[in-house]
Amino acid sequence: MQRVIISKDLQAELTAAIADCEHDRIFVLTDTTTIEKCWPVIKDFPSLEGATTITIGATDVAKTLDSISHVWECLQKGGATRHSLMINLGGGMITDLGGFAASTFKRGINFINIPTTLLSMVDASVGGKTGINFGGLKNEIGVFNDSKYVILCTEFLKTLDDANLRSGYAEMLKHGLISTPQHWQELIAFDITNPDLAVLQRMVADSVAVKERVVEEDPHEHGIRKALNLGHTMGHAFESWAMRRNKPVLHGYAVAYGIIPELYLAVKKTNFPVEVMRQAVTYIKEVYGMLPITCDDYPELIELMTHDKKNTAGIINFTLLGGIGDIRINQTAAMKEIEEAMDFFREGL
Ligand code: GLY
Repeated sequence: MQRVIISKDLQAELTAAIADCEHDRIFVLTDTTTIEKCWPVIKDFPSLEGATTITIGATDVAKTLDSISHVWECLQKGGATRHSLMINLGGGMITDLGGFAASTFKRGINFINIPTTLLSMVDASVGGKTGINFGGLKNEIGVFNDSKYVILCTEFLKTLDDANLRSGYAEMLKHGLISTPQHWQELIAFDITNPDLAVLQRMVADSVAVKERVVEEDPHEHGIRKALNLGHTMGHAFESWAMRRNKPVLHGYAVAYGIIPELYLAVKKTNFPVEVMRQAVTYIKEVYGMLPITCDDYPELIELMTHDKKNTAGIINFTLLGGIGDIRINQTAAMKEIEEAMDFFREGL
């Protein structure tokens, strides 16, 4: 079980977390961005004296077997033992890949996640999913294994660009929809385009608590953890569609786009309130703009959804809602309904 700490004093919390993890050596995994922007924030902490940094390429393109092999090699050459500790300092790519490297090196060493992007704070760094991309498929190889600690320090968001902030916020919107009307209302009243970081820190804490509750109930995604897939069936198809056109969109943008047609399906099939769907559509269109799909793209998008690894027996699996927090997993839809939902996405309210 991992401990999630909402940071007030990063030095004190990290020092205590390190002390709690029996270790001989410390390795800090960074990417080419976080070694410059985030490592300087912690590198002079006395508890990190003598720590070895390992740096890999930034962004999802570096989430590869080559990168992980490089990490294992650095651990080996740096004298890591079964009692060494790894600290993953970065976004979701670093916490996923670093978590996998740590979980497999000498059959597993302890690791601590310090997520530095909003997306990794509210999603990737919590819940024990680790892994890498392989054979052209995202997160194809990996294991479930919790970090000992996740330390969430919104100070790091000060250097995060606007698009990545919006991207992370989409997962928070999702957490709002699967939790309570109060949490949802607070999220859509917040201006993520001009964020007050103190308020955001409190909302991040609430958001992560939603994920923690779900993961605690179903750590290996046999049932209710599928609630976290809201917006992702359509969202992953949009993400792959954009990638194939060499116009990639950030993951959270794709999720935000995916929430629109999936809420349309929820209104049609599980009585989700129309007015909440309208609020969501208005907020998403204002913050994330639009993805320029046409009806000629529907067959490809449906083919992408059909091959999503969340499905069983090739039947497209949706997580829908009967209301805010009223989660309906394992829903299906007819082709005509999916096409209608995509029409709605294109044409709006
Ligand atoms: N990102 C969804 C999950 O952790 O299950």
